[in-house]
Amino acid sequence: MQITYRLMTIEDYEEAYDLWIKCGNGLNDKDDSREGIEKYLKRNPTTSFVAVCEGKVVGVILCGHDGRRGIIQHACVSPDHRREGIGAKIVELALDALKAEGINKVLLVAFKKNEGGNAFWESQGFTLRDDLNYRNKALAEMVRIDPDYVKE
Ligand SMILES: CC(C)(COP(=O)(O)OP(=O)(O)OC[C@H]1O[C@@H](n2cnc3c(N)ncnc32)[C@H](O)[C@@H]1OP(=O)(O)O)[C@@H](O)C(=O)NCCC(=O)NCCS
Repeated sequence: MQITYRLMTIEDYEEAYDLWIKCGNGLNDKDDSREGIEKYLKRNPTTSFVAVCEGKVVGVILCGHDGRRGIIQHACVSPDHRREGIGAKIVELALDALKAEGINKVLLVAFKKNEGGNAFWESQGFTLRDDLNYRNKALAEMVRIDPDYVKE
């Protein structure tokens, strides 16, 4: 089956969202709402991609930058299309798009328990930084949507 690749637009939102849910990507009600993704794509119009097979979105990567660092989020490939090189291709497209914007380094976070995801990132040359603590702070109330999230 032929896979085509193109920039993600807001028209892809519903299919992308369904795929994120299916693939277990960590979501929340604000950033991942249609408005949230629209805001993201407006700010980062050239760096997020979808993979399409027979008219259906089977892979997504959200990617953007702040003028200095690139960030990848919500990379996923439909379970029935895994290990076909789609993940590697959407990463390559996103990295090329970042390079075209003069970005020199890209980061991402992955749940430690996500063994497959971490093996994938390792295979794509994303090294693990064990000298850092990842910190963040919420600026708004957000509801997590991923089904197996347990609040600590
Ligand atoms: C991670 C994910 C995007 C990979 O997509 P994919 O299209 O299957 O990846 P590719 O076919 O391009 O794999 C490239 C290489 O990554 C490695 N890899 C991919 N999935 C792997 C897995 N489950 N276990 C071990 N290595 C894996 C392999 O080295 C693979 O090369 P190979 O098939 O020749 O051995 C996909 O498994 C997915 O959607 N997972 C659920 C969502 C997720 O975890 N996203 C990342 C969040 S941080």
